[in-house]
Amino acid sequence: MQIRALASADHAAALALWEAAGLTRPWNDAGADLRRALQGPESTVLGGYLDGAGLVATAMVGHDGHRGWVYYLAVDPAHRRRGFGRHMMAACEDWVHRHGIPKIQLMVRRDNVGALGFYEGLGYEVSDVTVLGRRLRLGEQVPATESGQGQHPEDDRDGTQPDERGPGEGVRR
Ligand SMILES: CC(C)(COP(=O)(O)OP(=O)(O)OC[C@H]1O[C@@H](n2cnc3c(N)ncnc32)[C@H](O)[C@@H]1OP(=O)(O)O)[C@@H](O)C(=O)NCCC(=O)NCCS
Repeated sequence: MQIRALASADHAAALALWEAAGLTRPWNDAGADLRRALQGPESTVLGGYLDGAGLVATAMVGHDGHRGWVYYLAVDPAHRRRGFGRHMMAACEDWVHRHGIPKIQLMVRRDNVGALGFYEGLGYEVSDVTVLGRRLRLGEQVPATESGQGQHPEDDRDGTQPDERGPGEGVRR
């Protein structure tokens, strides 16, 4: 598998892969996530390409100046357990390292047991932190929170990998 920055011709294929891998949620705009990540120097989307099969894996990687973050790690279901996920994570680690950031982390839904096993096998450890979040309504005036006012109706939904900025468990800052 060759790993390189996702080609613009492969955006639709990446979105389809995220869908097939169960990483999309109706309340997140995965296409916008993808475009934003490819815009600036502090993030990218890596594609894993196989001769004959095309795009078989993705990972979004970036940093916030303090920590490196990985989202949308996905391997085509037809190509799992061949070491491609491991290779994608190594490429993410290399990207973060090259940007001078000393730690990489990610968030994983607690019920994503397979991914947890995968990451643990790579040496990732669960951090003893709680991730807090608040959804912002872009383009609207959000009143200061008072008795729940200003909360988005989806705020109580289960947080998921691409929903939380910064996929895995843990934020040690
Ligand atoms: C998680 C995922 C990326 C792993 O990709 P993969 O290419 O199958 O992983 P690899 O072949 O590199 O696996 C490396 C090792 O991780 C472990 N591993 C991989 N998948 C595992 C699983 N479902 N359960 C337990 N361990 C697993 C194994 O030790 C494996 O080595 P082995 O095959 O020799 O036993 C893939 O299953 C996937 O796309 N899942 C859906 C999307 C997702 O949940 N992404 C993570 C979001 S946080």
